[in-house]
Amino acid sequence: MSFDFKFSSFGEKLEQKGGIVDLMQDLGDALNEQTSMRMMGGGNPAAIPEVQSIWRKRTAELLAKENNFNSTLVNYDPPSGNPKFLSAVAKTLNHEYGWNLKSKNIAVTSGAQTAFFFLFNILAGKFSNGQRKKILLPLAPEYIGYANQGMTQNIFAAQPAIIEEKGKNQFKYHVDFKQLKINDEIAAICVSRPTNPSGNVLTDQEINQLSEISRSKHIPLIIDNAYGNPFPGVIFTEATPIWDEHIILTLSLSKLGLPGTRTGIVIGSEKIITAVTSANAVVGLANNNIGQALSLPLIESGELIKMSKNLIQPFYKERMLKARSYVKDSFGDTIPYRLHESEGAFFLWFWFPSLPITTIQLYEKLKKRNVLVVPGEYFFFGLADQWDHSHECIRVTFSQSENIVKEGIQIIAEEVAKSYGI
Ligand SMILES: Cc1ncc(COP(=O)(O)O)c(C=O)c1O
Repeated sequence: MSFDFKFSSFGEKLEQKGGIVDLMQDLGDALNEQTSMRMMGGGNPAAIPEVQSIWRKRTAELLAKENNFNSTLVNYDPPSGNPKFLSAVAKTLNHEYGWNLKSKNIAVTSGAQTAFFFLFNILAGKFSNGQRKKILLPLAPEYIGYANQGMTQNIFAAQPAIIEEKGKNQFKYHVDFKQLKINDEIAAICVSRPTNPSGNVLTDQEINQLSEISRSKHIPLIIDNAYGNPFPGVIFTEATPIWDEHIILTLSLSKLGLPGTRTGIVIGSEKIITAVTSANAVVGLANNNIGQALSLPLIESGELIKMSKNLIQPFYKERMLKARSYVKDSFGDTIPYRLHESEGAFFLWFWFPSLPITTIQLYEKLKKRNVLVVPGEYFFFGLADQWDHSHECIRVTFSQSENIVKEGIQIIAEEVAKSYGI
């Protein structure tokens, strides 16, 4: 390179090789180079025809109302989000759950992903007294997208889940409350519910216990509700959403079929919302307002929640049941495997006990056979000790079309069998 210069520590951190950035590049390259690739690695929502037609109809309505459309395009929103949207979100959540939210408890961000970048760095990292604090992930494996978000190194402390084995081919993770250490180093607790990657949904008891711990330690509990209730509602078990002053709840319009609009929603105390609002203003002045404009009347009328219950949840439930049946057929009785219980989100989370190769190696073998999955290793960041389990799991998306999922699972079964020497 003839023209070179140095990056700051922040620049170096972003530039870092290895980990999620390389993996995402690899997934993207593989997909662009080969259209025959079966994409079972991403977190993209499915193209649900009824849902897509609702968004097309809403776009036409927005276009038809000249004044609304013009003002949507020509105006910067306030940095916390569109006031009508904030008020509608507060009203609908108060109505559903009996909360007492005001608009000042809510901020929109450019996707929930951006919200996490803001939240983690606002709450953890280096403090003015020189102390360093971390975000506690009480149930590892946890969402890959958090892994590289700290502006400083090592901002996560993760606690391995307890594994409950259920019959021959099933398991479920639980929080290991006995091992949970909340010392002065912990700035906040964070969980995704439903959990990406495992499809686990923390029980009401677990979430209430985490809430009590965080309240008593005066640290926030962040609950990432990207797949949860009341929208998009991709949850196949009972789970009550909670909110209180010490809880930061995040939602997203992405899994409703609008990832391109980049709309995340943060619900929290005024102090945290003020900080997120400032971050929005500093980083981007204002948010993209199209997702807010498209969804606003559906939030006001309650249609968005109905659409989640009546279209989105049943769609993914059917896809999940089919995918699990393909697994049963393809793996049979001879290949060792366990599936995490499918309680929510878009993924099958496989565990191959004592697999002789790592799942990064398995990923490479599958890629050669035109199947893209995500190796489990990437979801176990922040652990203090090495854990064999982290090399024995893969995440497989079932949101793609049925034949892709079916063929992909058959190929996964063949490659896993070969790896075990079967
Ligand atoms: C658990 C979880 N949280 C947050 C996000 C980020 O979503 P968004 O598209 O709103 O940035 C995702 C995206 O896949 C996710 O799976």
